[in-house]
This record gives sequence, C-alpha cells and structure tokens, in this order.
Amino acid sequence: MNESETIFNIIKRRRSVRHFNRAKLPDEHMQQILEAGRWAPSGANAQPWRFVVVTRRETLVALAECSYYKVFKSRHVGEAGAVVVICADPAAGSQTYPLDAAIAGTNMTLMATALGIGSCWIGAFEEQNIRSLLKIPGKLMLIALIAFGYETGKASVPPRLSLSSIVHNEAYDAAGEPGIITKKKYSGALSVFGKLMRVLFNKR
Ligand SMILES: Cc1cc2nc3c(=O)[nH]c(=O)nc-3n(C[C@H](O)[C@H](O)[C@H](O)COP(=O)(O)O)c2cc1C
Repeated sequence: MNESETIFNIIKRRRSVRHFNRAKLPDEHMQQILEAGRWAPSGANAQPWRFVVVTRRETLVALAECSYYKVFKSRHVGEAGAVVVICADPAAGSQTYPLDAAIAGTNMTLMATALGIGSCWIGAFEEQNIRSLLKIPGKLMLIALIAFGYETGKASVPPRLSLSSIVHNEAYDAAGEPGIITKKKYSGALSVFGKLMRVLFNKR
C-alpha cells in the first residue's frame, strides 16, 4: 500500500466505537495519540488546545454519567481505557481555537485507529459537571471528550452523502443541495417501533 492508500484506509476505518473492553491502553500508545494531537495545525500556530487525560476507572464512570449518546448516558465512556477531554484556550492567540482543538482531536482518533485502538467523540456532555469533576478552569473552553479503548464487537458504518451531492465546482449551486440520507424501511411491529424511536430521538 502506498502512503495515500494507507492514510485513506485509516480515515475510512476509523469508526465511532461504543463498546470497549475496559482494558488499559499501553502508555506508549497513549503517548503517540497525544503526540498526534500536538502536531495538529492551528491558526497562527497558537496551539490553543489543552488535553486532560483520564484513565482512573471511577473518573471514567463519573464522566459516563455526564455524557450522552443520543438520549442515553454514554456507558461506553465508563468502559474506555482512557478519555481525553479536549479544551481550548481562547487567550492563546488564535481566533480559530475551537477549530484548532477539533483538528487536534481528529489527529488523535486517526492515530488511535492506526494503533488498533477504537475511539468515540462525545460532544453531548454536561459541561459544568465535567468542569468541576476535572477542575477545568472557566478560562478554557470545553470542546469535546474523546473516549479511547479496545473495541468489543464491530461498529456499523454509518452512510456518507455522495461526493456529487456535497461538492460544488467553482461556485455554489443551490440545485445540488444534499438529500436526506435514506433510512432503512421496516414493516409491521418493527415499523411502529421505528416510528416510536424516531419520535423519541426527534428524527424524521
Ligand atoms: C463533534 C462530534 C460530536 C459527537 N458527539 C457524539 C456524542 O455526544 N455521543 C456519541 O455517542 N457520538 C458522538 N459523535 C459520533 C458521531 O455520532 C459519529 O461520528 C457519526 O455518527 C458518524 O459515525 P462514524 O464516526 O462511525 O463514522 C460525535 C462526533 C463528532 C465529530
């Protein structure tokens, strides 16, 4: 495989993993993941990201209580080997500090994939509870949590919009607006269950 195939393979293989086996991650792998974050680009090279690394089981379980997957608590966060809480310092010298921090997080998830470690972004969390749990000062913006761990099972691959529906050549063409991703259709009891779930989760 050449380099471009390798990187595309890693990008495509990265999944949001929501079942972990609670195993500790090797320190050198955690180090590589954090280094991948450290080498992210940032506006004016301000490097506004700050990473809080959590590995103690009781803290991971407490984080799971403050984070969500749709309307459910993120149980998988409590089963992760580590969680990196991505923060950004607005005073670091970049106007793009949330973007910078998100790019660092992306680098980390890709490095984790290359190391055979699953990951999951968590953007739905109880900010104040996490701040006080981890003593994160008010001057930092809390961007996201990323759970890392060894996957049990196999995460499904959520569909992507086609390139032709998201790429506009030379100028934006409103006629090319992306459609809604087609969901599987079920019949009978499954269909009623599906409708109930969609109402619960506020989906069409
Ligand atoms: C910024 C961001 C926030 C996300 N927040 C959550 C979240 O709070 N809980 C969760 O379980 N997954 C979360 N995800 C994961 C997405 O649901 C997932 O990336 C998407 O469904 C595509 O699946 P894939 O990552 O396997 O390709 C988040 C992803 C991103 C990039």
